[in-house]
This record gives sequence, C-alpha cells and structure tokens, in this order.
Amino acid sequence: MKIAIASDHAAYNEKKELIDYLARKNILVIDLGTKSGDSVDYPVFGQKVAKSVLRKDAERGIVICGTGIGISIAANRYKGIRATLCTTIEHAKMARKHNDSNVLALGARTTDLEQLKSIVDTWLITEFEGGRHQSRIDLIDQV
Ligand code: RB5
Repeated sequence: MKIAIASDHAAYNEKKELIDYLARKNILVIDLGTKSGDSVDYPVFGQKVAKSVLRKDAERGIVICGTGIGISIAANRYKGIRATLCTTIEHAKMARKHNDSNVLALGARTTDLEQLKSIVDTWLITEFEGGRHQSRIDLIDQV
C-alpha cells in the first residue's frame, strides 16, 4: 500500500516518527511536508494529501496537526475524501468498517505517539464492510 502523509509544524516530529514506523512495515510513504518545525498553515497540507489521494498517487492518506481538527476539515472539503479524526483504536476501526475512511487525521498534541502508532495500525488493516454503509457513503457526496 502507498500512503501520502503530511502535517503542519505542530506535528512535524510525530510525522517523522510515523514515516519511519510505516517504512519499517514496508509501506511506501509519500511525504508531502511540512519539512521543518517552522510555523506553516495546516490547510495547505490537508489539501496536498486530499489531492494526492484523489489523483490516486496514493491509495490513502494520513494528515496530522496539533489536534487533527483543522487539517481534517481542510481535507474533507474535497469530494471523495473521507477524512476521519481518530483518537482511539475504536475510532480507527469504525472509521474503516463503516465510513471507508481514506484519510486518517491525527492530533499530535492530543494523542501520544504509541497511541498514534496503534491507531495507524488498526486503520491500515481494518476492511470496509460495504453493504448498507456503501449507500450511506454515496449520500455524502450527493451535495
Ligand atoms: C497550530 O498551532 C494548530 O492550530 C494546528 O496544528 C491545529 O491544531 C489546528 O486545528
């Protein structure tokens, strides 16, 4: 699987840790920035990942900011993107099973690194259940 990942400055260190973690699992990662801890604007990085997933450069994306809130709002402005802010393993499981999450949003200031890794693992391996959930997802894009 290929994953596009991006963060703002608030999550720069956690992004680096997660890139190394994913690389150790032989997952291909496209790093779309930010490239330092200097202050940047989180919408830019949510947008980069959303576009990358929609272009199919990556199958899924991960976006990280301080809380995960701003960057998930930015990614969700794109039709076809289902960015899900997850702070628990249960969130990650249900985001995949019921919502077919294609972008995982994380909060570096609200969730510790070991929990972030566990959330990523669960989100990566959990399959979408389809069925009645597919028609509900279809409704999201009918705006
Ligand atoms: C940056 O200070 C912070 O606002 C940002 O990382 C994020 O938490 C926004 O939702």
